Amino acid sequence: MADIARLEVNSEVYEFPTYIGTENEKAIDISKLRGNTNGVITIDPGYKNTGACLSGITFLEGEKGILRYRGYSIEELADKADFLEIAYLLIFGELPNQEQYDKFHSDIKKKSIVDEDVRKIIDAFPKTAHPMGVLSSLTSALTAFNPSSVNVDSEEDMYNSVVKILGKFPVLVAWTMRKKQGLPLDYGDSSLGYVENVLKMMFRQPNEEYVINPILSNALNKLLILHADHEQNCSTSTVRIVGSSHAGLFASLSAGISALWGPLHGGANQAVLEMLKDIQEDGGDTAKYMAKAKDKNDPFRLMGFGHRVYKNFDPRATIIKVAADEVLADLGVDDPILAIAKGLEQEALNDPYFVDRKLYPNVDFYSGIIYRAMGIPTEMFTVMFALGRLPGWIAQWREMRLMKEPIGRPRQIYTGATLRTFVPVEKR
Ligand code: CMC
Repeated sequence: MADIARLEVNSEVYEFPTYIGTENEKAIDISKLRGNTNGVITIDPGYKNTGACLSGITFLEGEKGILRYRGYSIEELADKADFLEIAYLLIFGELPNQEQYDKFHSDIKKKSIVDEDVRKIIDAFPKTAHPMGVLSSLTSALTAFNPSSVNVDSEEDMYNSVVKILGKFPVLVAWTMRKKQGLPLDYGDSSLGYVENVLKMMFRQPNEEYVINPILSNALNKLLILHADHEQNCSTSTVRIVGSSHAGLFASLSAGISALWGPLHGGANQAVLEMLKDIQEDGGDTAKYMAKAKDKNDPFRLMGFGHRVYKNFDPRATIIKVAADEVLADLGVDDPILAIAKGLEQEALNDPYFVDRKLYPNVDFYSGIIYRAMGIPTEMFTVMFALGRLPGWIAQWREMRLMKEPIGRPRQIYTGATLRTFVPVEKR
């Protein structure tokens, strides 16, 4: 790509500089477009062609199914790494050495205590409340209990905020589930690893010891790593844009949780399982649901299929599919839902509608099957996604602030009424 891009508007030629990323991604810098062209802007619904920022965190190449965190391939990380070291990698840029890791974990544990008054807020929610709404509210409520704003230019201040949220968030996740189930709220056990402690906080019964099952902790570790970042997706863009007004970290994260909740984004994992259950209850007729998904007069979509960026395969889905087989076999679970999912996938992969539109299973297609085998309620699936995505949101928020990005404020092309005169109500 040339260093300069030229655009002709009303017979006038304008020149714009270009960017090339470290992986050869190309962009035209249109930041001066409006000023130089006397008011011309671009329109790009859904930001399909718009790069919102320069970022050094995650590389994703949709055509080749590549996903890397800070240069490390997702396949290698999902196989070998520990979620907490991935959190450190994403946020601070490098894998921690043992000393850094131990300090990081110890600081997180120290900051994990949640103000007792938060329990009163949890008590005020009806048991029927969706856990994502509760989690978003509780994360926002943390701002009330931790009112000082983060000085992003102070490494110490930033580090303290990071360990604080990484410590308290899993507690909120576990309490959200336990409250719904009528179980006493629990702090787990600080002698455990981060992921093991999440499981204990979620599942410990008040009248018995909780024994860590390595199959479950390994599966959760892998799932959390696979969800940890995904560059400028809907929730991450939300976190960055909210943070661009210099709103605090916790407030920005709370907005990100709300964005993740939608069924086109993280909420798809719950929607997939509900869809698979519907198909099962409907006699397993996958063809009927395939037909619905292809019918333009039917709003039904094959949940867990398609992705804005992946147009070949979603590498996370490939890893999760194998993990689902392993976890179910290790746990001795024979879930007919898995067979329905595999059947549906095969049909879709051979159907011209899905092939032509490059629609492949995404990260959410098989993750719910693992969560279900782990005993996690369906309504909690997107909460688990949020727990995994937390380090990515923090890393992106921090990067945005450190790069001193301006406030996010898109333009529009107005299509409403032109100037008219107000008519008093009695004359309307
Ligand atoms: N089932 C049936 N048709 C689909 C699907 C689907 N799951 N996904 C896309 N299409 C069709 C769509 O109708 C359109 O067809 P046409 O060109 O004839 O109008 C075409 O494929 C392109 O779809 P799009 O909506 O323009 O694509 P997008 O990039 O805006 O949307 C998506 C991407 C993920 C929102 C969409 O594929 C979808 O709704 N999938 C189901 C929900 C889902 O699984 N979401 C999780 C995404 S991965 C995890 C995450 O983001 O958190």
